[in-house]
Amino acid sequence: MRILSGIQPTGSLHIGNYLGAVRQWIELQEKNECFFPIVDLHALTAPQDPKEFKKSILEKTTELLSVGIDPEKCVLFVQSDVSEHTELAWILNTLTPIAELERMTQFKDKSQKQKSNVNAGLLTYPTLMAADILLYQTQAVPVGEDQTQHLELTRKLARKFNLKYGETFVIPKEIVPKEGARIMSLTNPKAKMSKTDDTASSISLFDEPKDIKAKINAAVTDTGSAITYNSARKPGISNLLTIYSEFSGETIAQLEKKFKGKGYAAFKKSLAELLVKKLAPFYEKKKDLEKREVYIEETLKKGAQKAEAIASTTMQDVRSKVGLLSR
Ligand code: TYM
Repeated sequence: MRILSGIQPTGSLHIGNYLGAVRQWIELQEKNECFFPIVDLHALTAPQDPKEFKKSILEKTTELLSVGIDPEKCVLFVQSDVSEHTELAWILNTLTPIAELERMTQFKDKSQKQKSNVNAGLLTYPTLMAADILLYQTQAVPVGEDQTQHLELTRKLARKFNLKYGETFVIPKEIVPKEGARIMSLTNPKAKMSKTDDTASSISLFDEPKDIKAKINAAVTDTGSAITYNSARKPGISNLLTIYSEFSGETIAQLEKKFKGKGYAAFKKSLAELLVKKLAPFYEKKKDLEKREVYIEETLKKGAQKAEAIASTTMQDVRSKVGLLSR
C-alpha cells in the first residue's frame, strides 16, 4: 500500500504523537511504500523564530530516526523541498468553499489560541494537507484522531477534482489506532496533549528520567482514589491508564486488577518507572545521532529526490487536466 503521513517540525515528539501516529509508521514502513514529510510549511502558520525553526527541522528528523523511522525503508523528507505541495494546494484552494475551512475544529481552536495572528495559512492549512496526501496517490494515512476531519475534507476534494476533471486522484482512507488515538494533556485531561502547550502537560520521548517522574507525579487526577477507567468521570486516571496500557501491552482490565486498592501514588510511581524504561533507548539513540549532522542532511536530500519523482508526475497530470500549459 502507498502510505503517507506528516508531522510538524516544532516541539519535541511526545507520547501522543508516538501512540497516535509514529508507532504505526514504524510498523507500516516494513511492508508498504511509505512517505513521511516533515511539514515545515504547515508549522509556519504559527509564529516561528527563523534560526530556531531551521534547527527544529533537523531536530525532528533526528528524533524520528531515533525512534525507529528507517530511511532505507521509507521516504523521509521536508515538505518545502518538494515545491509541488504548494502548487497543488493552490489548485485545491480554488475548489474549496471557504465555509468548509471555517468549520474545521483545528482552525477554530488555533484561531482562539493565537487571536492576534489568525492568518490565511491557518484557514487553508487543510488544503495544503490534502495536497501532501493526494500528490502521492496515497491509499492510507495513519494519524491520530485530531486529523480525521482533515482527511474527510481531503477525500471530498479528491472526489470533486475527479468529477470535474476526470479520474486523477486515489481516494485515501485513514488509519486511526483503536487505543491511543487521542492522548490527553497531563495538566488538563479534557484537552489533547499538544506540543505547543506548557512542558508539564506532555511527555517527550526524549525527556530525562527525573522529568518523566516529576511530570507523572504532578499529572492531574480525579476525585476518589480507585484506579478505574471512566473517561467521562475520571478523565485524568483514564488517560494515564491508556498510556500505561499502550506502553506495557497489558489491557486496561488487567491494570485495574493489578492496582486494585493501591491508590494513585503507587500507580503513578509504577507508570513513571515503565515510561523511563521504555523511553531510555530513544534517548540513547538520539545522543548518538546528534553527532551525525551530515548524515541527517543527506537523508533529507535523498528523501526529497525520491518524493519529487512521484510528486512531479502527479502534478504534470493535474496541470494538463485543469488546462495549464505543460512545463
Ligand atoms: P502534528 O504534527 O500535530 O501531529 C503529528 C501526528 O501526531 C498525532 N497526534 C496525536 N495523537 C494522539 N494523541 C495526541 N495528543 C496527539 N497529538 C498529535 C496527529 O494526529 C498526527 O497524526 N496536520 C498534521 C500534519 C500533516 C499531515 C499531513 C498528517 C500535514 N500534512 C498529511 C497526515 C497527512 C499535524 O499537524 O500533525
